[in-house]
Amino acid sequence: MNRLPIAILDFGSQVTQLIARRTREIGIYSEIVAPDIRADELKSRGVQALILSGSPYSVYDRDAPMPDGGILNLGVPVLGICYGQQAMALLLGGKVEGRHKAEYGPASVVFCDESPLLEDLISPMSVWMSHGDRITEVPPGFRVLGTSAGAPVAIMADEERLFYGVQFHPEVIHTEGGTILLANFFLNIAGIKPDWNMHNFIQDAVTQVQSQVPDGEEVMCALSGGVDSSVLAYLLARALPGRVRCVFVDNGLLRKNEAQEVCATFAAHEGIEFHCVDASQMFIHNLIGTIDPEEKRRIIGHTFIRVFEEQLKQWEKVKWLAQGTLYPDVIESQSVKGPSATIKTHHNVGGLPAEMKLKLLEPLRGLFKDEVRQLGRELGLPEKTIKRHPFPGPGLAVRCLGEVNADKLALLREADSIAIEELYRSGYYDAVAQALVVLLPVRSVGVMGDGRTYAFSVVFRAVTTEDFMTANCARLPYELLERITSRIVGEVKGINRVLYDLTTKPPATIEWE
Ligand code: XMP
Repeated sequence: MNRLPIAILDFGSQVTQLIARRTREIGIYSEIVAPDIRADELKSRGVQALILSGSPYSVYDRDAPMPDGGILNLGVPVLGICYGQQAMALLLGGKVEGRHKAEYGPASVVFCDESPLLEDLISPMSVWMSHGDRITEVPPGFRVLGTSAGAPVAIMADEERLFYGVQFHPEVIHTEGGTILLANFFLNIAGIKPDWNMHNFIQDAVTQVQSQVPDGEEVMCALSGGVDSSVLAYLLARALPGRVRCVFVDNGLLRKNEAQEVCATFAAHEGIEFHCVDASQMFIHNLIGTIDPEEKRRIIGHTFIRVFEEQLKQWEKVKWLAQGTLYPDVIESQSVKGPSATIKTHHNVGGLPAEMKLKLLEPLRGLFKDEVRQLGRELGLPEKTIKRHPFPGPGLAVRCLGEVNADKLALLREADSIAIEELYRSGYYDAVAQALVVLLPVRSVGVMGDGRTYAFSVVFRAVTTEDFMTANCARLPYELLERITSRIVGEVKGINRVLYDLTTKPPATIEWE
């Protein structure tokens, strides 16, 4: 089991992930763990400090998650945030007032004492609050370090046992100096050395992969051409040179020139055995007559597996499937609220390894997306690949609404390529998180030259987002939108209208299917 310097007990707050982000920015590795993780497990993993996260629950709710009481006897510093502070206060004999008037949003905290936790911070401190309960009496051994209008105990500390609590959220950017407070806790109070960086990560990951995969066994890495699987391939090539077989499937649902670009990036890389399989006919054939988006995903997922199975018949030594699972996927499945409801089945390329009887290798499962990009840079991946927008596994099939066929895909591919080219040209590609073109299954009347047209419409969509869970429409300049529109309508015969999608997520999703 891995060593774990900082464990963040997740009581279900929407911003728990941000705590992990901040600790890594400070240079310390942390993991988010289940709220009821046992104290002896934390001890066996060499935990050096604990964070108790916030929560949507009140400590007085019948099913409110509570930590194993033993965690407070581990002898390590503990920082409780919001609900985490209240849970700590209750467990240690303090008083919490339930369902007090809720306090949401910005607040001002005035310091009333000095503490190593507050070093380099200035009172009053602008913070972000989100609570209904509040502590009215600190547990024995604690003193109050700060108060706000809605929280008489906005900061508390027992400096003997190194227990600290804050009512606000230091992890959100709206709390001024929040990262300083967290750094004070980790570096000065817990005395943890900030040695988490990508260089160390590579060394650890390489050793870990080498110890996982026995001599004589090989790994298959399904390459989508996106950043995660590309970084994965480069990392594996370093760990297991000559033993990694990368497969890139041309499923006929790719963007214009995508297959050629991916082939050029990987065919030239030393240590990667790269195979491009053209299965486009099979995918398009299997999709005939399918309209339902989830059914499209299911068919595409199964077709991928068939292609991989065929490859595997030739590779007896391959016993492992490498997958680019990232940390947010892992957290999602262990959160206090359980896995979130399926909105869309995300069949990532190479999914369903159980059906293929391969052992799973997931060396990126501790990383956030931007850390994967950083890792890619360290490993020498081309910048264009690193900065690439995400592209869904089912590809253009979920952007060609309704039934997919080769003609519609050709129209969509041309329109998409123009939009992306113009985004690059204008310098806006890196400013948006994802851009896409969707072909609508309706035709409308237009006029071109002297003639009437009756042709398809496309939707251009560009969004800004941090995590792809929520997204805003990108405010692109009108001139750019007009240029994209006039080029698509002028250059792609068969399309006579372009619309720009202004909808946020939620209520819409980023993809249209
Ligand atoms: P939505 O449309 O759910 O998309 O807002 C969020 C992000 O996920 C991508 N996406 C997929 N990725 N297989 C994938 O590998 C899929 O089936 C799939 N569906 C959506 C989408 O492009 C966006 O980045």
